[in-house]
Amino acid sequence: MRSYSAEYLDLTPPVHRGLKEIVDKSIFRKDLNIIAAKIDARKTQTIARALRDKAILHIRSYRNVEPAGDGKTLVLLKFPDEALLPPDVREFLEKEGAEFVPYTMELDYDHWTADDILQSVLPEDLAEQHPSGFAMVGHIAHLNLPEEYLPYKHIIGQVILEKNSAVRTVVNKLQTIDDADHVFRVFKMELLAGVPDYVVSHMEQGCKFTFDFTEVYWNSRLQTEHTRIVDMLKPTDLVADPFAGVGPFAIPAAKKGCAVFANDLNPSSYHYLNKNTISNKVKDLIVSSNEDGRKFIRYVFRQAWDMPMPPHRPKEKGESRRAAKRPPAPALARWAPEHARKRITHFVMNLPQSAIEFLDAFRGVLAPANMGDRPLSGEYSDSGSMPMIHCYCFTRFLEPAEAEADIRQRVEAGMGHPLGEEVSLYNVRSVAPNKDMYCISFRLPYEVAFAAA
Ligand SMILES: C[S@@+](CC[C@H](N)C(=O)[O-])C[C@H]1O[C@@H](n2cnc3c(N)ncnc32)[C@H](O)[C@@H]1O
Repeated sequence: MRSYSAEYLDLTPPVHRGLKEIVDKSIFRKDLNIIAAKIDARKTQTIARALRDKAILHIRSYRNVEPAGDGKTLVLLKFPDEALLPPDVREFLEKEGAEFVPYTMELDYDHWTADDILQSVLPEDLAEQHPSGFAMVGHIAHLNLPEEYLPYKHIIGQVILEKNSAVRTVVNKLQTIDDADHVFRVFKMELLAGVPDYVVSHMEQGCKFTFDFTEVYWNSRLQTEHTRIVDMLKPTDLVADPFAGVGPFAIPAAKKGCAVFANDLNPSSYHYLNKNTISNKVKDLIVSSNEDGRKFIRYVFRQAWDMPMPPHRPKEKGESRRAAKRPPAPALARWAPEHARKRITHFVMNLPQSAIEFLDAFRGVLAPANMGDRPLSGEYSDSGSMPMIHCYCFTRFLEPAEAEADIRQRVEAGMGHPLGEEVSLYNVRSVAPNKDMYCISFRLPYEVAFAAA
C-alpha cells in the first residue's frame, strides 16, 4: 500500500502574529474535521499496524484510537472527507468491515510542537527561519538569538520552556562580554523563561559535571572533541591540562586510569573542577591548581617529579565492580615509589584564542635552570619520551593546506623551533563562516624542552 501524507489537512495552529507572550493558551484551540474508521475492537491492532504510516493521523499527545462503545473502536484517519480516501485504503478498510464516520478533533496548545507555535506567532518574515534550535547544558536551554528576533525573545523562551520537559531555564547569550569574561571565556546571558537557576548537572562521557553556567566556560558542542582526545590516551598516561575548565578532559581521562594535573585560572572553574573530581570518584588521580597556564607549564614538570602520581592499577581479575570503584586510598599506600608516574606524556591545551602564545613556556622547561638537579635522564631521555602536546587554535584559513601552513608557522614561531616528524592536525569545528577551530598534536621537541634559555 502506498503512503500518504496529511496533505488534505491544515495541521498548523491558529495564527497570532506579533505576539510577545502567551497569556491565554485557549487562543490556540482549533477544531479539525476528519473521518474515522469505526471498526470491530478486536481488529484494532491489525488495522492500526497496517495503516500506521499510510492513513492514521498522528498528532502529538493525541490518541488516534478511541473506544466507541458496543465493542467498536474509532481509528482516526488523516483525511477530511471519505471521498478523499485513497482507493487501496478504502478497499482494505471496507474488507475489514469498517464504517466511516465524521470526527472532530479538538486541538489546543499542548498538541502543537514548539516549531508549530513559533511559526504561528512570529512575524511572517521571521517565522520561516526562526531559531528553534538551542544547546542544552544540564537543565538550561541556551540560545544565541539574532538581533531581529530579540523583540520576541520572551515568547521564544516561553515556548521552548513549555514544550521541552527537560528544560527548566531558558537563556539567551548576550553579545557584550567584558575583559574578565573574555579571559575565562564566559558569556553573559539573560534569562528568557523559567527559573533563574544556573547551577547545572550535565552528563558527558559517562561523567557528571556540575557547574555554574554563568561563571565558567562550557560548550556542549565539544563533547566529540573531548571524547576524541580521551580515547587517544592510555590508562597509564600522565596528563597535564593547563586550561582544564571544570574537567571535561581531566575527569574522563582519570576515569580511564590516567593521572592528571588539571589547572584553570578561573576560581569558579577550579571550585567546580574539585567538586567534580570528588563526585566522579577520581580524587586520587587528579591534582588540581588555580594558576596562570604559563606558570603551570613551568612548574608541572617539577611537580610531577616531586609529587609522583600513583601508577595505573588495572582492575584485578575477579575484582567486583564495587571494589574497583572503592576509593583507592589503600592502593595509594600499596604502590612502590619506583612505579610512580613521573613522566608527563600529554598536554591538552584548549584555549583556542591564545594557547599558541603559551608554547614559549616550554622552552627550557626540562633544563637544569627550571628542574634543578633532578635526575631526569631515566624519564625524559630522548625525543620519543617528550610529551605530546594537543594545542587548540583558530585559523581564518579554511583551505586545509593553508590552515596547516598557518598553524604550523605560528606554533613553530611560538616555540622558536621547527616541529619534528610527529605532527597531526585535526579540524575540530567551524566556529564562524570564516573561522575554523583546529587541534594540532605534536611531540614537544627535545631541543625546546632542554633549551638553555
Ligand atoms: C576554552 S576553555 C576550555 C575549558 C575545558 N578544557 C573544555 O574543554 O571545555 C579555556 C579555559 O581556560 C581558562 N583560562 C583562560 N586563561 C587562562 C590562563 N591564562 N591560565 C589558565 N587558565 C586560563 C578559562 O577559565 C577556561 O576555563
